[in-house]
Amino acid sequence: MSFLARRLTRIKPSPTIAMTTRAAELRAEGRDIISLSAGEPDFDTPRHICEAGKAAIDAGHTRYTPVDGIASLKRAICDKFARENGLDYDPSQITVGTGGKQILFNALMATVDAGDEVIVPAPYWVSYPDMVLLAGGTPVIVECGVQDGFRLTPEALEKAITPRTRWLILNSPSNPSGAGYGREDMQALTDVLLRHPDVWVLSDDIYEHLVFDGFQFVTPAQVQPRLKDRVLTMNGVSKAYAMTGWRIGYGAGPEPLIRAMAKLQSQSTSNPCSISQHAAQAALTGPQDYVRESRAVFQRRRDLVVAGLNECPGIECPTPQGAFYVYPSIAGLIGLTSAGGTRIEDDRAFADALLDETGVAVVFGAAFGLSPHFRISYATGDDQLREAVTRIRRFCEGCG
Ligand SMILES: Cc1ncc(COP(=O)(O)O)c(C=O)c1O
Repeated sequence: MSFLARRLTRIKPSPTIAMTTRAAELRAEGRDIISLSAGEPDFDTPRHICEAGKAAIDAGHTRYTPVDGIASLKRAICDKFARENGLDYDPSQITVGTGGKQILFNALMATVDAGDEVIVPAPYWVSYPDMVLLAGGTPVIVECGVQDGFRLTPEALEKAITPRTRWLILNSPSNPSGAGYGREDMQALTDVLLRHPDVWVLSDDIYEHLVFDGFQFVTPAQVQPRLKDRVLTMNGVSKAYAMTGWRIGYGAGPEPLIRAMAKLQSQSTSNPCSISQHAAQAALTGPQDYVRESRAVFQRRRDLVVAGLNECPGIECPTPQGAFYVYPSIAGLIGLTSAGGTRIEDDRAFADALLDETGVAVVFGAAFGLSPHFRISYATGDDQLREAVTRIRRFCEGCG
């Protein structure tokens, strides 16, 4: 009999972390590796935010705080929602956790029972289905292909809803596709949801600020105020302010849900790091230059990567609206054999052969629930990106 709980057999380790670890191991062995697998900005946290963290230590903010966040940070989060999203929340409707990941985890653990269904459009962020499974629920995966711009259509949403549906998870702009829902797309979805009063929406807005070409970010509670009392809007400072290691995420939603999530957190991690909370407050209330500057850099890199990949035989790369990922199709390479002798049967074989033969680490599409694709994170320097694209092109040219 296994010592480990059965619930653990339902889930798998994060494939993106596995690929990043493998790339780091190969690099440690002396191989020339370009890792395009990690989902974090390559910039340092802006100076004024670091200074706020240091000041928090000097001021003695080194003790336990209220379980789901200090009052001043909750106030700053309310102001952020009002300023940037036109959403009016009271601090009692705000929860702060150890990264956006904990907010999602708390929400699903607090609400999903065995047999409950959660609609997850694919390609999806790798953790959604596994969190649903851990909670005992059933992820209902709805494939949203290139033809739909990787976006869930209202028809597909309507079809996926059953009497067991608890949540729809939306992530715009998306990890891994970079696809964003404009106001019209979002409204078409919220119209469907208005007809299904028992379905809640978990909106993962973590890439809100990384949008390009003037794309206007919207979030469901803003587009359809009548849904607000069944929407949990999740966000965080990791991607917007290059603060992945500080681990601060937050959610806004109806008070009973927020209280339930805090109850769960009180029996797991308690408060998120006190120092990080003060730094996150500085991020939300201080100058926003970094947000604008990083957006411009990411847009330039996106253009570089999309143009380069579309010159690779067998690859088609749509232009994403946001985040720092592209999700190209390798349909044109399936069935071919690489110069190193690997038959490219699927996107996993492609990613493995690409790493072995060229040293470029990407994540295969099956990890995100939609094949045959792969994900590139372009949160890395321009020179590395140019070199990676050149290697990918040579790899594709060598396939036959
Ligand atoms: C779509 C999405 N949601 C949530 C997260 C979690 O972010 P964090 O826990 O660092 O705030 C990530 C991180 O990769 C993500 O890509």
